[in-house]
Amino acid sequence: PASARPGPNGDLLIGGVGLAEAADRFGTPLYVLDEQEFRSRARAFRRALPTAEVFYAAKAFLCSAVVDWAADEGLGLDVCSAGELRLAAAAGFPPERILLHGNAKTPEELRLARRLRVGRIVVDGAAEIPRLAALAVADAPQRVLVRVLPGVAAGHHRAVRTGVDGQKFGFRIAGGDAADAVARILGQPGLRLTGLHCHLGSQITEAGPYLAAVDRLVGLLAEIRDRHGVELPELDLGGGYGVRYLAGDAELDPDRFAAELTARLAARCAEHGLAVPRLLVEPGRAIAAPAGVALYRVLSVKRGTDGRAFAAVDGGMSDNPRPALYGSAYQVRTVGRPTDGPTATFDVVGRHCEAGDVLVHGATLPADLRPGDLLAVPVAGAYQLSMASGYNLVGRPPVAAVREGRLRLLIRRETVEDLRAREVGR
Ligand code: LLP
Repeated sequence: PASARPGPNGDLLIGGVGLAEAADRFGTPLYVLDEQEFRSRARAFRRALPTAEVFYAAKAFLCSAVVDWAADEGLGLDVCSAGELRLAAAAGFPPERILLHGNAKTPEELRLARRLRVGRIVVDGAAEIPRLAALAVADAPQRVLVRVLPGVAAGHHRAVRTGVDGQKFGFRIAGGDAADAVARILGQPGLRLTGLHCHLGSQITEAGPYLAAVDRLVGLLAEIRDRHGVELPELDLGGGYGVRYLAGDAELDPDRFAAELTARLAARCAEHGLAVPRLLVEPGRAIAAPAGVALYRVLSVKRGTDGRAFAAVDGGMSDNPRPALYGSAYQVRTVGRPTDGPTATFDVVGRHCEAGDVLVHGATLPADLRPGDLLAVPVAGAYQLSMASGYNLVGRPPVAAVREGRLRLLIRRETVEDLRAREVGR
């Protein structure tokens, strides 16, 4: 993770624990989370936006320990499935600090959310309004936000740009869809509309897109006031805050972002004569990604035809689908051997049955890299394990955490017995 420090003999230390030791103890592939890094990134968001509500986006990575860290740090939790909701509730997360998302929430998810009394539900489509209204009652109204499309394109890949018309999320502002949804929700005694929501995209490294969204959303808040006589008190800008995967990457600094954002929000609200709404933000990657590192063991080193060298490791696209899905780039380094010798260029490839299973293209690694060497891929704490698959029945890797020099296992390795346990017929 970002907090990694060089250790003796080319080892890498996080939270005072050597990664070579972690790999020896729990085997590879292995994901290691730095609890302190996760917590300090959560704190940085809260400090930067002291009057905002910060929801950790569970989709980046969730387990009971992460639920505890988020709860301790005073974050809310953004969930988007019954699975995330049940895990959070079972781990003791306060339901009133949970916000439920989803463009296709099932009837079961809506019922569960109501039964657990989640604080807020983000309405994503017209069909959801009567469903939710039927579950809600006037003496215990459900707080809801309406997800709208500000028409701002941002994010690292087309697949994650969710703030524009022409994709499946939210209500269009143009054409009046968003205004109609607002009117319908305001007419439901069981629903209490608290604000507008948008999510632009993911891995956004500058404030500009958020400022453009603020302009659009404050304009809509003013229209709602003019038409319905209500000033909605909340504005949720979603997630998307970018982190540094490669040395030269830009990273969104929470303090600078917050300063620009709050200034713009205040200015636009003043123009429209609106009270400044409370901000909600939903960072996932920015909190979790830099807190994680993936460890792999080299199994084979091979020269390809055009002089390409391949280093094949014991994980791959089943534990990190991001390179194959989005062409995402990562750094990689050896652990537990000196890093100052001659180097060569390798494609670090996985063990799956596809040529596209490449974790890192063109990595600079020791020229004499050999089977048994340990590789670390930093910034691995978000959207890797949470998107892991069962491809080739390899089994998903374990997750360990470090805190103050202590290493503990959070999730054990998935075994073939786990996979077979779901088979109930033949
Ligand atoms: N809020 C909503 C409504 C979202 O849809 C998302 C992410 C977030 C918050 C958190 O966004 P973050 O701060 O983590 O960027 N699998 C992709 C990323 C997909 C993001 C989906 N939504 C990737 O690996 O790059």
